[in-house]
Amino acid sequence: MRDVQREIAAWLEPLATILQIDAAGNLRALYPAVESAAPRLLIGSHLDTVPNAGAFDGILGVVLAIALLQGLNGRRLPYAIEVVGFSDEEGVRFATPFLGSRALVSRFDDNLLDRQDSQGISVRKAIQDFGLNPDTIADAVLRDDVCAYVEFHIEQGPVLESLALPLGVIETIAGQSRLEFIFKGRANHAGTTPMNMRFDALAGAAEWITAVERAARISPGLVATVGTVQARPGAVNVIAEEARLSLDVRHPGDDVRMHAVEDLIRDAQAIARRRGLTMSWKEHMNQRAVQMDPDLITQIEEAIRKSGCKPHRMASGAGHDAMILAEKVPSGMVFLRTPGGISHDPAESVLIDDVAKALECGFHLLDQFAQSTAFQKRTCRA
Ligand code: HGY
Ligand code: MN
Ligand code: MN
Repeated sequence: MRDVQREIAAWLEPLATILQIDAAGNLRALYPAVESAAPRLLIGSHLDTVPNAGAFDGILGVVLAIALLQGLNGRRLPYAIEVVGFSDEEGVRFATPFLGSRALVSRFDDNLLDRQDSQGISVRKAIQDFGLNPDTIADAVLRDDVCAYVEFHIEQGPVLESLALPLGVIETIAGQSRLEFIFKGRANHAGTTPMNMRFDALAGAAEWITAVERAARISPGLVATVGTVQARPGAVNVIAEEARLSLDVRHPGDDVRMHAVEDLIRDAQAIARRRGLTMSWKEHMNQRAVQMDPDLITQIEEAIRKSGCKPHRMASGAGHDAMILAEKVPSGMVFLRTPGGISHDPAESVLIDDVAKALECGFHLLDQFAQSTAFQKRTCRA
């Protein structure tokens, strides 16, 4: 993160009058307006990513924002532009996402600061180790002069490619639940313990993982993923005493998602009971589905059209910082086509022409906002 911030800050240096790292580790740069007391447009995305990731998820949105500022060639607008590079959107280290953007909307509370990573290091300590002061998190909160947030992001899915479209505009971002499940049995010798005398936590977890997949397959629009499994003691010749798993459940409808989570908890309890195991679970996140701002959707559609592309309204299965910012400011997202629909993998890519189209769309958006006094009058919802 230090290297990324140093590199991105160097690009922002010549463009921004204020360049800072806030107490949540977000990189924030202000490109001033014609007048000092002007409203502010936020543009950005996240700097972090997942293990063994591609090169575009998050960072493309920050680089596109910088390219827009560069393309203004010093031209000032009737509103300021704040470029934001969020520090932790994926939630890989602390098992809960959107740490950076939560700080901007006052959702970075004490129990978040006390969350620990797998080494027992708290968020508070991690912020201090990074050289920042967690006691000043409140200073990261957006002021009331922010009139909108726009995020450019790769689709990370197959839709735009299947429609042969370079750009999409997001209407809804699916809600997501993240939980941890722990199955506990009894360790024993793999060679001497007859099959009917085992309390195998990993076998129980495996049965449940197939139940998760089966449940999601039969529920339209539902996706459910067990992405991590840790078995203890984790030896070839020892029956697993404990299996610790993650669960990620998403759906555009919050009721469907919440009912699916309840059903999967019941399935885990039934499997554990039948196998003589114990099962416990912990919810790490319950993020409701979020609608993007209708006026911004219209503005983005118009800008996409002016870029010579057919706009396509769509939902996002991936979570984004825009779903957090939308709590305080009107938020909108522009998607770029993802070749092969591959993301969260080194094969993740974009087409250069699509990036050029996104940039063109961005310049049209900036001009549309500059001509719209209604846009400039909108401010943070308290
Ligand atoms: O997991 C997601 O939805 C995104 O990549 N943060
Ligand atoms: Mn991601
Ligand atoms: Mn992302």
